[in-house]
Formats: sequence, structure tokens, C-alpha cells
Amino acid sequence: MKNKIIDILSENIEQLDKEEIAAALEIPKKTDMGDFAFPCFKLAKVFRKAPNMIAEELTAQINEKGYDIFDKVVNVGAYINFFLAKEAFAKEIMNTVDTPDFGQGTEGEGKTVCIDYSSPNVAKNFHVGHLRTTIIGNSLYKIYSKLGYHVERINHLGDWGTQFGKLIVAYKKWGSKEAVEENGIDELMKIYVKFHQEAEKDDSLNDQAREWFVKMEQGDEEALSIWQWFKDISLVEYKRIYKLLGMDFDHFTGESFYRDKTHEVVEKLQEKDLLVESEGAHIVPLDDYDMAPCLIMKKDGSSIYATRDLAALLYRKRTYNFDKCIYVTGLEQKLHFAQVFKVIELLGYDWYQNLVHVPYGLVSMEGGKLSTRNGNVIYAEQILHEAIEKIHEIINEKNPDLPNKEEVSRQVGIGAILFNDLYNQRIKDVIFNWDKILNFDGETGPYVQYTYARCASVFRKVGAVELPAEIDYSVLTDDATMNLLKDLTRFPEVIKEAADKYEPFMIARFAVSVAQHFNKFYHDCQINVEEENVKLARLKVVDVTMKVIKSALDLLGIECPEQM
Ligand code: ARG
Repeated sequence: MKNKIIDILSENIEQLDKEEIAAALEIPKKTDMGDFAFPCFKLAKVFRKAPNMIAEELTAQINEKGYDIFDKVVNVGAYINFFLAKEAFAKEIMNTVDTPDFGQGTEGEGKTVCIDYSSPNVAKNFHVGHLRTTIIGNSLYKIYSKLGYHVERINHLGDWGTQFGKLIVAYKKWGSKEAVEENGIDELMKIYVKFHQEAEKDDSLNDQAREWFVKMEQGDEEALSIWQWFKDISLVEYKRIYKLLGMDFDHFTGESFYRDKTHEVVEKLQEKDLLVESEGAHIVPLDDYDMAPCLIMKKDGSSIYATRDLAALLYRKRTYNFDKCIYVTGLEQKLHFAQVFKVIELLGYDWYQNLVHVPYGLVSMEGGKLSTRNGNVIYAEQILHEAIEKIHEIINEKNPDLPNKEEVSRQVGIGAILFNDLYNQRIKDVIFNWDKILNFDGETGPYVQYTYARCASVFRKVGAVELPAEIDYSVLTDDATMNLLKDLTRFPEVIKEAADKYEPFMIARFAVSVAQHFNKFYHDCQINVEEENVKLARLKVVDVTMKVIKSALDLLGIECPEQM
């Protein structure tokens, strides 16, 4: 519709191009000023006339031509106010929204995006921080896919580094096969903590740990088999969580995957004369860019986190030829990525411009109380199960006869957590408050899911109907319906903006807005009425709303039960 008005304006104002017109065209705050308004101030210079006069003349000219998409066109001051013919507008909107892949974009066709997210640290529990990168990364994957991009979902597991030297020492000194087999990551965490306590008293433990890690880097069989065992145990737990979340990855290529690829980084840096020796270690100085140096190789020749990230980038560029590589991690890694990206730039690769760090804020419990097993880390799995259980209780109360209660509780419980995580700008801290998160009436996941289920129930009540392609648009012109339909049309631009800014919260806000508009429509407009034309038209509104809600929630990684 907007484009049509731009076309009409451009027919009537040859002096401006379409972009200039589009930039100036406004949607008035009050509907009594029309559906669109065009200010003529900027035309004063071109026409050498007062803006009011220009607006008056253009209004007359447009009215003379009599475009049928307008109910009326009115001049007020320096503005041309357009009132759309509601029926034509309703039809136009309906036809836009009612396409099989409404929201689907094409800008990403032929382009590849790598998204590096989740990436928990092996032998450590999956905590709520890692839950955030998982949820945000998964949503970005969906959003970019929707725009036509090919996405590589990469889980850059923290499965290499000195900490594994420490774990091997700890296991050999205080661990047992049985305990690790029985208690998995918990046991590994326990002996890891013990290592640090003991190393305070006996520094030689740290030397032993370094030696074990050097052995790992050199391919020592014993070291690698213990390490592999710890990794397998951890992956079982992580994959259980991903399954609960309904999420997956294309690659579980963790840091260890690059262990035979870091020498390439060192060689390239040497070739470019970028590597400097400092106290036995090798670094890339970054003082010129106001950054701490990027450590590449430790004294004992072993690699570090940054070296492996550089190796990963060379590998990914070569293997996937990405147009963009996105990293979703906590804000505390800002410097790390700035250093890595800078080193890529210094190596002479122009694609450093396509590397993006997408940081996010912290997670805390409302009131500062943490319901945890061990003090201050909130475990993801625990939170997810708690959400599912709490939703199960609510459903038992509200809808005790619901079939499939277990599965619906999972969908809604997980949906509640995901939605809460994605409802604000990602840099803002997430605060857990169970009452808010699980509220079926607030700005929450369950509220949007409930609205979807309400749509589905409309169709259950009405029974089997075939919705015709053409409906009576004149019955859709009331405010509640028009506001809902107008809101739905925003979907494609919201997706685009969410992708450009790496901000899934825009989709979450949109979903709530649609749900609110739908509920107003549902309240104001009776659907199951005698008049067939009214009924069919309104059912069509329910139908398109359902599709948009489902598709929006899907972009957040949230499922939609038909009943709840
Ligand atoms: N394992 C890291 C952590 O838990 C996150 C890894 C992020 N990705 C990367 N390529 N550095 O903090």
C-alpha cells in the first residue's frame, strides 16, 4: 500500500525521486489525519512556493485524477493526508499476508552465514549463560534462513586447553572410573575444583597439568584417550539439553578440531612479520589499535584460545566461503573477538569486515536468590525442567483433560524460557522471575502460544470449512480488524531488521503485538455468526494470524501446540 502511494506521489511530483518520497511519507499518529501523510516543506525550494500552497495544489491534482484506492485525500496545512478506501486496503493487506511463505526473504540467496554459538566448555556443566548463546544463536539461524541465507550452525566446543591437563592430573590423583561413569560432569567438576584447592598449596601440580596439555598437543595416546572420554561424557549431557530445547547443529567442531591447524596461523603471522617474542611467548602487538596484545603461542609452544579461533576462521573461510561469520557469546569476550578480528585484518584478509561479535548480558534471579545446587551457577537443565514442571501444574489446573499434557508442558515450559530470554535487547541482563515468565496473560511466551491455541480452537469449534480465495473484504473494515491486519503486514520488515541488528527481540515484540491485536479483534468481532460472508472473512483473518504467529514463534525456536 505504501508503495502504491509512493508511486502515485511520484507520478504527481516529478521533481522528487521515489526514495526521497518514501523517506518523507509518514504514518500519522492519529487516524483522523489519515492512513498516510505527505509533508510538502521540502518542496518549497523546488517549486518556489509556500509549502501550504504546494500541498493544496497537489491535493487538488490528485483528487482530480480520482485514484480508487483512496476514500478521500485532504489538504491540511503543508500536508497531504491520504485516507485509504478501507475495503480496497483490507483486500490489499489480506493478499499480501495470505501468501504461502509470507515473511520469506530472498536477500540471502546464494549467501552463506556461519553462526558460532552455544559452545559450552567440556567437563563443565551447561549453565544459563550458555543457554543464552544457544537460544540467541538458534534464533539468528532461523531468522537468517528465513531470509534465504544458507546457515552453518557451528558449536565451537571448549574442548581443548590447559584445563584438560589439570583434569587429567586431578583424575589420576583423586578420581575413579566408577565415580566418573556414575556422576558424569558433576564428578569432573568436583575433581577440577579439588585440583585448584590443592594447587594453591602445591604449585608443582600446575607444572604437571601444563605437561599433560603439551602431551595432548603432541598426540600422546594416554592423554588423548582420557580427554576423549571426558568429552564423550560431556556431550551426552549437552545433547540431552539440545534435544529438550528442540535444537541441533551442523557441526560440533570444537577447539580441538583445530589442533593440527594452528601451525598455519603461526606460519602466516611469521610470513607477514607480525609475530613478536615476549618473555618466551609469541604475541601480535596491538598497541597501535589501543588493544592488549593477542597471545598466539605460550612459552611451552602450546596454542591458546585465540590461536584456535584464528585457525577456525581460516578453516571456515576456506570450507564454507562465508559471507558473514557471527559469534554469539557473553559481553566479557568483547576484547577477545576484537583482537582476533584485528589479527585477521593485519594478515591482509579483507573479509575481516564480515566478522561479527554478537554479545549478550548476564542472567540473574530476581531478588538475587539463586536456586542452585552449588551456590552461584544456575544450571540450564535444572531451569528447563523446573519450567516444564511448573507449566504442567498450571495446565493440570486450567485444562485437566488436555490430551498430550507432557508434550504440551515441554513446548510451553521451554517456550516460556526462550521467550523471556529473547524479549529484550540481548545486551540487557535477563532476570528470572517465575511468575512473570510463566504468566499466560503477560508479555510472555505462554501468552502468545495461548493466543495461537485460541485461533486453533476457533477452527475446532466451527468444524471443517474450506476458506475461499476471495472473501467479502467489506466486512473487515472495522478498527480492530484493520489494526490487526496492518500489524501483520510488518512481519517482513521486522524480520529484516532483526537480522540486520542481530536482535531476535524484535520478533518477540512483534509476536506479542500481533497477539494483543488478535485478542482485541477476538473480543470485538464475533466469528461464528450466521452470515456466511462475515464468518468466512473473519475465519480468514484468524487463519492468517495463526500462520504469522506460528512463523514468528518458530523464528524464536518456540513451538505452537494446537491446544493448551
Ligand atoms: N567456549 C567458550 C565459552 O564458553 C565460547 C566459545 C565461543 N566461540 C568461539 N569461537 N570462541 O566461553
